[in-house]
Formats: sequence, C-alpha cells, structure tokens
Amino acid sequence: MTPQPAILLPPLAVGQVLTLRLTAAQQAKPLLRAFACLPIDDSLVVGFGWHFVQAVSGNVPGLRGFPAMTLPESAGGAAVPATQADIWVYMRAAEAGAALDRVLALMRLLPGGLTIVEDVATFTYRGGRDLSGYEDGTENPLGTAADAAAIIPNGPLAGGSFVAAQRWVHDLSALAAMPRKEQDAIVGRDRDSNEELASAPTTAHVKRTAQESFDPPAFMLRRSMPYGGAREQGLYFVAYGADLDRFEGVMRRMAGQDDGVVDALFRFSRPATGGYYWCPALKDGKLDLVPMVGAGGVDAMPDVAV
Ligand code: HEM
Repeated sequence: MTPQPAILLPPLAVGQVLTLRLTAAQQAKPLLRAFACLPIDDSLVVGFGWHFVQAVSGNVPGLRGFPAMTLPESAGGAAVPATQADIWVYMRAAEAGAALDRVLALMRLLPGGLTIVEDVATFTYRGGRDLSGYEDGTENPLGTAADAAAIIPNGPLAGGSFVAAQRWVHDLSALAAMPRKEQDAIVGRDRDSNEELASAPTTAHVKRTAQESFDPPAFMLRRSMPYGGAREQGLYFVAYGADLDRFEGVMRRMAGQDDGVVDALFRFSRPATGGYYWCPALKDGKLDLVPMVGAGGVDAMPDVAV
C-alpha cells in the first residue's frame, strides 16, 4: 500500500528517464524477477507498459496503450504520437553523476532482452520553470490532495499509480519571435508574475487544462522537467494519476478532439513521444508485483543493491 516515494516528491536538480522495450518475450519473466527484488528508494520510479504485463501473462485493470491523436487541420498537421514502450524508469538526483551511476547500476542488474528506446537527461531550470520561461507546476495538488490525484486509493492496485510520459520538443525561436503579450496568451499566465490572465483566450493552455473544469475533475500530479542542449530543447512531461482517464481527457481537449479548439502550446511545441505505465505500490521497500501476476507469479529472490 506504500506508493513509490519519488512519485510524491518534487523533482531534484537533475533527472534521467529511460524507456525500455522488450526484444524477446521470453525475457519478460527474468526481468519481472529482477524488478521484484530491486529496492526502491526516493530516487527511482519504475513503471510497466501493457505489453510487458501481457508478456508476463499478467493483468493490470485500467492500464492500456497510449492513444495517438490527430489534430484538426488548423493545427498545421500536428499530431500526438503514441510511442508506447514496455518499461519506464525515472531517476531523480542532486547531481547528474549520481543519476547516471544509478542508471548504470540498474542496467547491469537487469538480464538481457531489453533495448533502450529513449534515455533523456532532464534538469531543473531556473527554479522550476519550463524552458519557455513559464513556471510549471503551480496548480499541482499538494499534500493529501496530491495523494488523492496520483495514487490509486483502493482495490487490488491500491498504493500504485499510473503515469503518462510524453517528450515535447519546443521551437523556442518561434516563441521568442512572438510579442510578449502573445507568448503570455499561449500559456494564459504572465511570465514574470505567474498571475493567471483574466483575459486569457479559450486556446490558452491553462484554460484548456483547468483541472476543475472536467467532469469528474482531472487532478493530476505533474513532475515534468526540461531537457535538451544546443540542438534540441523541450519538456519531458510526466503526470501521475490514480487513473489514466484524467490525463487522456485533458490531452484530448488540448488536441482539439472535443470541440476543435487546439491548445495554443502547439504553436511552439509538439509531442514527439507518448506512453502509459503502471507504477506498482511497494511492499517491504520493493515493487509489489503480486497484483499483476498473482502470488505464484513472482519467485522469491535474494536482495540486490543498486
Ligand atoms: C510543452 C508541454 C507543456 C508545457 C510547456 C506546459 C506548461 C504549463 C504551464 C506553464 C502551466 C501553468 C502553471 C501550472 O499550473 O503548472 C501548466 C498548467 C497545466 N498543464 Fe501544462 N504544459 C505542457 C503540457 C501539458 C500536458 C500534455 C498536459 C496534460 C495532458 C498538461 C496539463 C496541465 C495541467 C492540468 C495544468 C494545470 C491547469 C490548472 O488546473 O490550472 N500540460 N502547464
């Protein structure tokens, strides 16, 4: 019933996100055993995609593949791609070296049969801003509200969480070329004061995503972080939820699937990846995989240190 602690903790200075895909279905069971004996502390979150669950003959109600979306033509051919992988690992650390040490130790521990689809180094930018300069995370639920938004409250999966992970690629030059007022109107907030604009248009990101405006309310816990360098920059978007419907409802509205109104964010950013993962609860400091595969599905294994 204990959530993976890093889900509820704010990002540190750096992060590293791995998305992994199974190359051989017969490796799924050895991988399951390796993950079952991995101690999970406050620097690591592990999630499993539906294909991995299938490969171990398991079942996780509410987990599904990430849905691709096609935006209305007015959005210039933008799309929301699905790049569903099998395992998602998020490391948070105070310095990049520590994150890398942990990632390498984890990779050494895992048996073969996995390919690294993505390996993204993320970082905190100017105290928690997106690279566009806007503060990110202001309307995140706090305390018990954060638990309620992110953690599955009851049933066999209680204490677990679902995560939507999406890498967005920014066009910061396109944003910089716009007058400041237009930039603020895209987000719906004043970049300096972080105040919500009274006159924000319906296309503004905070209007499209206002969590209480959904039925039921779409509260989620966002733990996104910037990534990139000289060539490419963007946001590695991460949202934990007690179910996937809340993220999907917001994403659908952003993509104009409900009313044809596309989120103005698409004027300077596009998603390049998208996946859904189940992040199991912990039992005795390790991933409780019993809800997925049943009590007989995970053999007892010795402790390992990462
Ligand atoms: C390029 C990608 C994105 C950027 C740069 C971005 C940035 C922001 C910023 C600056 C805010 C306002 C401050 C805050 O409350 O955090 C915000 C709010 C929010 N964003 Fe995003 N966001 C992105 C993608 C997404 C996606 C994909 C979703 C979910 C599908 C999402 C969901 C939300 C929600 C729920 C809020 C709070 C709305 C409210 O209740 O006021 N964002 N985002």
